[in-house]
Amino acid sequence: MLNETQEGLVLIIDDEETIRDGCRQALEKSGYAVITTEDGPEGIRIAREKRPDLVFVDLNLPGMSGLEVIDILLEDIPHIVLVVITGYASILSAVESMKRGAYDYLPKPFTPDQLRAVTKRGLEHHNLKVEARMLRDAHENMTKDFVTFVSHEMRSPLITIRQSIEALKVVAGDCLNSEANDIIGRCEKRIRNLEDLVEHWLDIRQIEAGTLIREKGILDLSAVVMRSIEDIAPLCEKREITLERDIPKDLPMITGDEESLVRVFVNIIGNATKYTPAGGRISVRIGYDDHYVSATVSDTGRGIPKREHPFIFEPFYRVKEKGEQLEGSGLGLNFCKRIMDAHNGKISVSSEEGRGATFILRFPR
Ligand SMILES: Nc1ncnc2c1ncn2[C@@H]1O[C@H](COP(=O)(O)OP(=O)(O)OP(=O)(O)O)[C@@H](O)[C@H]1O
Ligand SMILES: [Mg+2]
Repeated sequence: MLNETQEGLVLIIDDEETIRDGCRQALEKSGYAVITTEDGPEGIRIAREKRPDLVFVDLNLPGMSGLEVIDILLEDIPHIVLVVITGYASILSAVESMKRGAYDYLPKPFTPDQLRAVTKRGLEHHNLKVEARMLRDAHENMTKDFVTFVSHEMRSPLITIRQSIEALKVVAGDCLNSEANDIIGRCEKRIRNLEDLVEHWLDIRQIEAGTLIREKGILDLSAVVMRSIEDIAPLCEKREITLERDIPKDLPMITGDEESLVRVFVNIIGNATKYTPAGGRISVRIGYDDHYVSATVSDTGRGIPKREHPFIFEPFYRVKEKGEQLEGSGLGLNFCKRIMDAHNGKISVSSEEGRGATFILRFPR
């Protein structure tokens, strides 16, 4: 923030000598460092070298126009703040330059006080821009550090613990009584949940960083859905849930990343399996019209109360039922929503408590 001892390097680009000298006097008196020049190319050269915080640019420069100077400075110098100096009745060009990114304008003739007021405001804006950038960088670095921490310090030990438990069962399984086996079983389950949570969380960070979806291509949604169904089918069988599908043959193609979309469908059909009691039914259908290809996944499970619909795609949100035993991170649907967003697609739910749930995934053709 600016305080009593004014700081800031100001560059003035104006072909009128009286303006340059007047500005220099007024601003130096207030403690600012000032550099002046009469033409655009020289102004750009100085700005690149000295990195001023604030630049006044006369819009009516001979040769290179003020607007061109603005474009180049904004492109080349981060955080730079530009104020245009305009002649009489040139409000339109002032508007044009602000559209291009200038922060303010100063119409001629102006008094030293007006100049100082605009300078103060411009430098304050500059400092805010720098602070915002620093905060953003700090946040990004923190997230990056945390991702590294989670993947090395959490994921690896979890895998080792799970493998050790598996090994323990092989080595000592027969010698253990049923109580000991139960304890080991509970440990295994909790570790698996924790592993799932870590994996989901890392996936979501990867989507944010734009590194999860690497290549999009033309693809056939039915292939995606079939792969997901194959993945889930054994679980359905085990839980005595019927899994039906209805997929038309001549399906139009969509654009997308097959691997991440398979994971979306595994999550959605997986949820249907998880929240549907034994004896239930899940149906997966694909349909299309002139603009969209849509898949619906319906189940006959416990459903989702309407009041919960706005929240279920939020990270970590779970709808808990009384005495619920089902474990989960609450990140599954958030993952799906982000992947759908990255495909310009839409995911929505239609459900009522106790009457099953239908998830609809719509893709542009
Ligand atoms: N088919 C469904 N039927 C009923 N409730 C569902 C269904 N799908 C999702 N839900 C509800 O939405 C919540 C959020 O789902 P989400 O998949 O994000 O998390 P989760 O299944 O609890 O955990 P995980 O992160 O392990 O998938 C769930 O807790 C559940 O209450
Ligand atoms: Mg889930």
